[in-house]
Amino acid sequence: MGIKINTHYQEVKESYLFAEIAKRIRIWQESHPEKADKLIRMGIGDVTRPLPKEVVKALKEASDEMGVAESFHGYGPEQGYDFLREKIQEYYKSFPVDLAKEEIFISDGAKSDLGNILDLFDRGITALVTDPVYPVYVDTNIMQGNKLLYARAGEENGFLPMPDPSVKADLIYLCSPNNPTGAVYDRTGLTAWVNYAKEKNAVILFDAAYECFVEGDLPHSIYEIPGAKNCAIEFCSFSKKAGFTGTRCGYTVVPDSLVFGGQSLRKMWLRRQTTKFNGVSYIVQKAAAAVFTEHGAKEIEENINYYKENAKMIMKTLDELGIYYTGGKNSPYVWMKCPNGLRSWDFFDKLLEEIYVVGTPGAGFGEAGEGYFRLTAFSTQEKTKEAMERLKILLAK
Ligand code: MLT
Repeated sequence: MGIKINTHYQEVKESYLFAEIAKRIRIWQESHPEKADKLIRMGIGDVTRPLPKEVVKALKEASDEMGVAESFHGYGPEQGYDFLREKIQEYYKSFPVDLAKEEIFISDGAKSDLGNILDLFDRGITALVTDPVYPVYVDTNIMQGNKLLYARAGEENGFLPMPDPSVKADLIYLCSPNNPTGAVYDRTGLTAWVNYAKEKNAVILFDAAYECFVEGDLPHSIYEIPGAKNCAIEFCSFSKKAGFTGTRCGYTVVPDSLVFGGQSLRKMWLRRQTTKFNGVSYIVQKAAAAVFTEHGAKEIEENINYYKENAKMIMKTLDELGIYYTGGKNSPYVWMKCPNGLRSWDFFDKLLEEIYVVGTPGAGFGEAGEGYFRLTAFSTQEKTKEAMERLKILLAK
């Protein structure tokens, strides 16, 4: 008998959603080489604005330091350098949320830690996710052999499902502003989830990757809600905020007050990270710290406003076409209903074939996403404008 493998990998879909979309685009490009340059990508949430100048300056300076014996850095602290954790600590004060430096762990992005965090919990536990949902939460739990429960999001609840007291879960995944729907919980909504988690002795895994798009009084962090430090872990990222999708840096907050089964989850996470992770490179952490400088923050605000203009263009087009959507205001994602009752993948094919625009089929985010479609505001303004003009002509026919 050979080695026993993790058979749960056979239970996940053959390919990850965005790998499947990339494959379909490749096939289309190969069969339509003459149209390939007309393609406009509004599918995967990848940014197009370059890194802020202040970030590039920090990258260069840190690289130079690495080439000099006196300022060279070898292994860094597994949980991140203090210079970056202190900046994050200050940033949270603006919400206002007080965090101890020890509660902040620097990572190579939210996606990795959202998967890695499952190391802290037993296999076979129950995870509650919303439907539609960012596929990483589902796939990582299936790979662990965990059970999944779904909280259905739809037009009836503005794509913001509320807790059902009759449902018992160990882990609760929340993402606000939401990927894929762009819907955002207000304080009342998040308070209901925090109270529910505490009552069920569950842990909320809060994905705040899109918090930089939040406007007004809506919460940026789950820790703005009283009691959340006793039940929630928060994941955040520099990817969407500062264009780090290819540079890789994020952070995870594990409060000291999270104690389950007599164990501090923060201490367990520290143990896990010191064992399995050697930290994010010094150069990249220096670049991330530049995000919080006066110039860096200004450049980032300009980039976010640039994407928000794109979101406005998309929303305006959908308004003119009379199409239902959520998101776009506090989010780079616009979640639209497919016109004429089309199914998500059929609408994907129609846009690709007829106007060479790529979006993400809602069905790829779960059953409740069927009949919906996600467009991102992360393209360039020129391409977003062009895509919206093409969409208007197509759907006005
Ligand atoms: C998406 O398009 O949903 C994002 O790219 C997800 C991610 O950041 O991994």
